[in-house]
Amino acid sequence: MITEVTTQPFDGQKPGTSGLRKKVRVFQQAHYLENFVQSIFDSIGDISGQTLVVGGDGRYYNPEAIQIILKMAAGNGFSKVLVGRDGILSTPALSAVVRKHNAFGGIVLSASHNAAGPEEDFGIKYNIGNGGPAPEKITNAIYARTLAIDSYKTLEHADLDLHRLGNAMLGDMQIEIIDPVSDYADLMETLFDFDSIAALLPSSEFSMRFDAMNAVTGPYAKAILCDRLGAPQQTLMRCVPKDDFGGGHPDPNLVHAHDLVEVMNGSDAPNFGAASDGDGDRNMILGSGFYLNPCDSLAILAANATRVPGYRDGLSGLARSMPTSSAVDRVAAELEIPCFETPTGWKFFGNLLDADKITLCGEESFGTGSNHVREKDGLWAVLFWLNILAHRKQSLEQIAREHWQQYGRTFFTRHDYEALPTDQADSMMADLQQRLGGLAGSSVADQEVLSADNFSYTDPVDNSISSNQGVRVFVAGGGRIVYRLSGTGTEGATLRVYIESHQTDATLHDQDPQQALAALVESAREIIALQHHSGRLDPDVIT
Ligand code: G1P
Ligand code: ZN
Repeated sequence: MITEVTTQPFDGQKPGTSGLRKKVRVFQQAHYLENFVQSIFDSIGDISGQTLVVGGDGRYYNPEAIQIILKMAAGNGFSKVLVGRDGILSTPALSAVVRKHNAFGGIVLSASHNAAGPEEDFGIKYNIGNGGPAPEKITNAIYARTLAIDSYKTLEHADLDLHRLGNAMLGDMQIEIIDPVSDYADLMETLFDFDSIAALLPSSEFSMRFDAMNAVTGPYAKAILCDRLGAPQQTLMRCVPKDDFGGGHPDPNLVHAHDLVEVMNGSDAPNFGAASDGDGDRNMILGSGFYLNPCDSLAILAANATRVPGYRDGLSGLARSMPTSSAVDRVAAELEIPCFETPTGWKFFGNLLDADKITLCGEESFGTGSNHVREKDGLWAVLFWLNILAHRKQSLEQIAREHWQQYGRTFFTRHDYEALPTDQADSMMADLQQRLGGLAGSSVADQEVLSADNFSYTDPVDNSISSNQGVRVFVAGGGRIVYRLSGTGTEGATLRVYIESHQTDATLHDQDPQQALAALVESAREIIALQHHSGRLDPDVIT
């Protein structure tokens, strides 16, 4: 029986950079998840008779949330839901499934790289029919709806067993329980030269490690790397998914993927190492004793794209999020294709991909992707790299160094200041904004400031404007400093400071990025006056 349950609004159900993220215990409050789901269903148009895709990264509360959503989908008139077995779908796999099955949209349950468990984070995000995150027009409508909601619809029904593949009925709605991996793995096979990679992976001259961080990509990596491409089982690290991700932080960076980093820096290191995050959309790429910055990774993938079957005909254009370094801009210039600069968050690439203005895109935050889905895609990046390694028969480090030789090296770092009191962070940014006009032409810690602005983006496809997307400060000599507040945190505010410079002198390419950027880091601290505002000087995380 479909029932209409009376409810009232909660504060703060405003979707951030990637949907609504809160502590699990916030989501566990009566009606909390239901309110948000109903607000989605009320904001996306006529859903009666439509198909929805649902899946999550398997974190704590995923099973309970899936059951709630299935019953609400039935109560709201969807005719069919595709759900991954056990409620599992990586974020890029969900995007692939939405596209392949022409679904109306999808719901992703994840808080990405945030920790999981009863005391940690949960999240929910709506993706539209192109498979990508809903644009701001829709997320704003969802938020507005959460403020006025007074009831939600659901079907009273026992929980469904999601363990077996096949079909089931929930009232009048059909449920198809699908293999979470196969559609995605099939798509990868259409893009990459699996024969060459399969010749590389089991060979005695090449070895790799893939760290799934006990999160969703474990089964995907096993199915693709081992079962389809023949890599030996010892390729896989932490590939058994756990609902608390093993107590770790499933964020593929030098800090949180330390086991992998240790292996890759050890004697007898494998040739290639990679890791993905909680929901499978991020990637970190390593060579033996070599760390590849994600900004460089994007640029090198773009420069080598025609070696990959799926991109053999060339690229229509490239895009990067504003804080991402300009390494990829130089490749676009060389290829004589456009390069777009978008605000932080994958949703801004959607229109450009749909309109075929771009083929590849990426963010400094370990996100890389293409027009094959509408999310960033961790394993896709790993396979892209394997395809390049198989074709070029050089080490990852050699390929990177040759790239720097040709294009110059763009040094890049991000400094994060976490858990700042929100009002302090807001007033610090407001204060910086007020001083922007005076910065141009001034000199800060020996760096000459050429110009400074607050980034505003006009979408070239639908002309929508997103303003206040972060402060950019350009200094003489091609350096740049960017400041923005994180939109994904669940506690306090996080200030992110992004710093880059460009070096064409190859004799200086070996510098440590922190050293190469030391003078700019100094100016960056002085400009934001963080110490004055918060008493803080050193960042919590440096990437
Ligand atoms: C962070 C990253 C951003 C990415 C987002 C979702 O957002 O910086 O590039 O799109 O996670 O993975 P932020 O916390 O900076 O708002
Ligand atoms: Zn993620």
